[in-house]
Amino acid sequence: MKIYAAKDYKDMSRKAANLISAQVIMKPDAVLGLATGSTPVGAYEQLREWYEKGDLDFSRIRSVNLDEYKGLSGEHDQSYRYFMNHNLFDHVNIKKENTNVPSGLAEDAEAECARYDGVIRELGGIDLQLLGIGGNGHIGFNEPCDVFEKGTHVVTLTEETRRSNARFFSSIDEVPTHALTMGIGGIMGAKKVLLLASGEAKAKALYDSCFGPVTPGVPASILQLHNDAVIIADEAALAEIREKTGWEGDVYDN
Ligand code: GLP
Repeated sequence: MKIYAAKDYKDMSRKAANLISAQVIMKPDAVLGLATGSTPVGAYEQLREWYEKGDLDFSRIRSVNLDEYKGLSGEHDQSYRYFMNHNLFDHVNIKKENTNVPSGLAEDAEAECARYDGVIRELGGIDLQLLGIGGNGHIGFNEPCDVFEKGTHVVTLTEETRRSNARFFSSIDEVPTHALTMGIGGIMGAKKVLLLASGEAKAKALYDSCFGPVTPGVPASILQLHNDAVIIADEAALAEIREKTGWEGDVYDN
């Protein structure tokens, strides 16, 4: 695990966009695993800017997103399909048919999960998986639990996650109770993983994920076992790591 310190949200976003750009340049038909939430918004904004300048070409890029709320259509403004279109896909030359997000409306959600794992397999796996982290250590919507779930599956969202995501909805009652999420096997199968963390609300989860025991109670802790996991975190998110390890530098090789 390599941890890179960023000064603030903007610096984190630019560093992340640089790594994603490198992937797009080095492998023009790469499979990008993409994430939603407020954390990657700045990185997507930067990618759009570099695309407009003519520095990036997404025409052969394929993508698979981590998750989707169960019950929301892609047109719902809080669905993750909508988020991706709005923040990235509508603004660059990626082909929509090459972008994948689990369907929140599938009548048979289990079948949709199996189909999604098939899509990832057919694409030949993920080259670079972008991740945010929940305040409780969740990645995608893999919530803390007793086991690491391998494949794409349906999850019941924790109250903590629903409360934290309620800020995007008009009330907590509108936050879906379930979601479809890529499993830990899908995420760990990516050749490279890039986790972003910003803000003090992530400081404890980030410390536990990087330095605590590897446990499904803190889903992101599994990344300690990935052989190419990169974390870019701003100073607020690094606070607990700085305090407990005494690390003062810019790069930590854990
Ligand atoms: C959401 C998403 C995750 C995201 C996390 C943190 O619920 N399913 O993919 O990483 O929670 O979100 P944010 O970046 O808004 O803090």
